[in-house]
Amino acid sequence: MCGIVGYIGNDNAIDIVINGLENLEYRGYDSSGIAFLDEGNIDVVKCVGRINNLKEKLSKEYKNFFSNIGIGHTRWATHGVPSDVNSHPHLSMNGKFAVVHNGIIENYLKLKEELEKLGFTFKSETDTEVVSNLLEKLDDGDFLNTVFKMKKTVEGSFAFGILKKDTNELIATRKESPLVVGISDSGFYVASDIIAILKYTRDIIYLENGDLIHFKDNSYTIYDKNDKIVNRELKHINWSVETATKDGFDHFMLKEIFEQPKAIKETLLRRLDEDNNLNLDGLEDLLDSDLKRFNKCYVVACGTAFHAGLVGKNILEKAFNFPVILDIASEFRYADNFLDENTLLIIISQSGETADTLAALREAKRKGAKVLSITNVVGSSIARESDNVFYTFAGPEIAVASTKAYTTQLVSIYMIALKIGRILNNISKSEYDEIIENLKLIPDKIQLMLKDTQIYKSIAKKLKDKSNCFYLGRGLDYYTAMESALKLKEISYVYTESFAAGELKHGPIALIEDGTIVFVIATQRKLYEKVISNIKEVKARGAKVFEITQFDDSNCVCDVKILIPKTIEILMPIISVIASQLIAYYASLAKGNDVDKPRNLAKSVTVE
Ligand code: M6R
Repeated sequence: MCGIVGYIGNDNAIDIVINGLENLEYRGYDSSGIAFLDEGNIDVVKCVGRINNLKEKLSKEYKNFFSNIGIGHTRWATHGVPSDVNSHPHLSMNGKFAVVHNGIIENYLKLKEELEKLGFTFKSETDTEVVSNLLEKLDDGDFLNTVFKMKKTVEGSFAFGILKKDTNELIATRKESPLVVGISDSGFYVASDIIAILKYTRDIIYLENGDLIHFKDNSYTIYDKNDKIVNRELKHINWSVETATKDGFDHFMLKEIFEQPKAIKETLLRRLDEDNNLNLDGLEDLLDSDLKRFNKCYVVACGTAFHAGLVGKNILEKAFNFPVILDIASEFRYADNFLDENTLLIIISQSGETADTLAALREAKRKGAKVLSITNVVGSSIARESDNVFYTFAGPEIAVASTKAYTTQLVSIYMIALKIGRILNNISKSEYDEIIENLKLIPDKIQLMLKDTQIYKSIAKKLKDKSNCFYLGRGLDYYTAMESALKLKEISYVYTESFAAGELKHGPIALIEDGTIVFVIATQRKLYEKVISNIKEVKARGAKVFEITQFDDSNCVCDVKILIPKTIEILMPIISVIASQLIAYYASLAKGNDVDKPRNLAKSVTVE
């Protein structure tokens, strides 16, 4: 996810674009840049880091500079690490075209090869620079026609803002990636999100898939996906700036919970071909090497990422056919472990910057282990220092409570384990196919769950005045219970503990008293009867039990049954956690807490 902004009109494009980018920082924030016309030439200023760095650079190089036309970009790296050269806008070799892009050009490698044969050279690792050079190649003197031809050549998803040298015209076009147009008396605006332009106008046109808009001579023309002129309705919107940033959601956490179907699709489908083969970009050399040499595998992470590792342990053990050891990074780094060159260390970290996780990685590398990291942030320290990186394409996660990063981490571990399991012949083809087929159905199942959140709101009301509660589970459900308890405690401040249900009578059951709320996660058939017994045990001591389950058996002994969509049991953790994310969210809301920024916590823990 990246953010783009463009402006053409009577005001200073530089100020408008920068202001717009500041509002789009939530879409990506590893680098940013701007291009504008300067006496016909295209000037580009860009740099790695937050928008403030760009502002500083501009204030030094272009203080009080005026341009009536410009495009800008804030980046969330997908192709190439965050760096000055990889930042957008990207100029064509001859400096005639400047492009900002949100999306992914799927055939960029093929196009790049063709352009290289024609003598084009590239400064960056991005797919976007291919587009600017493609425009140069296709240039027939007619800006609009050249962009039409480019649009027909590129495959994938895009929202583009494009400038041409000596041409006071702006062209923007979109396919799959969002792009809105704003109209005011003083000019025209394009942006990835209304929030970027709300300060200037509330008269908005939503471009449809495949649309292109051409701004020229104080006017604009819209073309549809077949390059035919179309009218699109101008709408007046009344959103507040605050509402718009979150796409209409009240909090980033809720937005991110609702983004999970899309994020999971991104993480999975881009690596899966039509024959269900997994192409795991970033792991090629690891998978091609002798995997049999590994006789140990550690999975190391913190917090939610650690819970993702716990869920993944089972399938990783199947894949390797030996025990896999899980550890919390802050413990692992000081432990006497058995790391050597036959060890695979899997590091999981959303931010890729968690200090303890990074230290564990360094320690393992020092001892010769091979490090594979699963992270969400391209070019993060963990990504840079690992031997192999597997990206979860969840997009920026802003809320402190991790949601979409967790479910995409789970999907990533399944994919990696399935691939390794097939290579080592420890997972059968039919088992592989069954898991892949069911993984593909997960996004729609989550979507279904998100349609009706009433039950979670009513549970939250009951939790509101409680000082403590518990999550129980067995097997994989125990790990989901751990993640669920973390989610609830960190944002609702209700003291929440998780227990392996079988451990209850070894101590924790002493905590149950009249009215204690106990959530029980029960999705594993072979453990179900045992879990029912545990429910009876806590109920007999006065607990109020909420059961999160896929089984609609009538012999329910709980007080409230939360029925969730069914899938194969090994994948149930991806679905059941959605229920507890929603319980946590609504409980925090009911208590009037700052959902996205809970007390004492930070999104990225870069101190040890
Ligand atoms: O960025 P990381 O995945 O390395 O972060 C690890 C934990 O700090 C993180 O998962 C934390 O537990 C979340 N706030 C939980 O919601």
